[in-house]
Amino acid sequence: MAVIKKPVIAGNWKMHKTIAEARELAASVARGFPEVSEAALILIPPFTAIQEVKRTVSGTDIAVGAQDLFWEEKGAFTGEISPLQLKEAGCDFVIIGHSERRQFFGETDETVRKKVLAALNHELTPIVCIGETLEEREKGQTLNRIQTQLENSLFALDASSFSRVVLAYEPIWAIGTGLNATPEQAEEVQAFIRSLIASRYGKTLADYAIILYGGSVKPNNALSLAREKDVDGFLVGGASLEAESFLGIAREALRAVRD
Ligand code: 13P
Repeated sequence: MAVIKKPVIAGNWKMHKTIAEARELAASVARGFPEVSEAALILIPPFTAIQEVKRTVSGTDIAVGAQDLFWEEKGAFTGEISPLQLKEAGCDFVIIGHSERRQFFGETDETVRKKVLAALNHELTPIVCIGETLEEREKGQTLNRIQTQLENSLFALDASSFSRVVLAYEPIWAIGTGLNATPEQAEEVQAFIRSLIASRYGKTLADYAIILYGGSVKPNNALSLAREKDVDGFLVGGASLEAESFLGIAREALRAVRD
């Protein structure tokens, strides 16, 4: 039996938008939402705008997330944000292990593992990013890299915890470059991810796992990517900064489900 899932379209706004700009963007997405309400939309603004975005989309089914968290609840950790604080601000999701955090801020599979546990303990759904560099791809190490990341950061979880994790395959060479993975490249890796989940947790859990693709997703490439069997939605950067392109991606993902 094929598993029918709602496409998940998450917009990672990265370090963009003031509070006022965030309110405007969230309001525009909320206005367009009825047309794409069969998709699950998640807005992921910078920390300062989370509360305002949550307020702006209240009354709709649009969810809000954060771009990172720290694993302690409170304490002397200058500059960090705890899961409790994110929940209070209105988050239901949190990105963990984005490649920009790994590349610029020393995130490792070990810190990802701790953050995932903290998120799950506070009823936040982690969106865990994994992906290879261009050099790793060119050396034929892509699948090895993906397997190592999964094993080191997630596969110690028990099945019920793992079933609450969303995965995002984001090839680092495709992020912000305008160079998206082809549908075949995305499918190869995402099918591999699902097969690893099946070996570790069984086929049913693997079939229900949500695996997003991220990396230069735009309305004009979303349909062919979304048609791939193991692409359950998108983690969108640049194209999530305008309501029209973000909603356009959701529309294309829904078309792929209907076709
Ligand atoms: P772009 O869509 O800008 O390539 O960013 C992808 C990404 O990093 C989402 O987390």
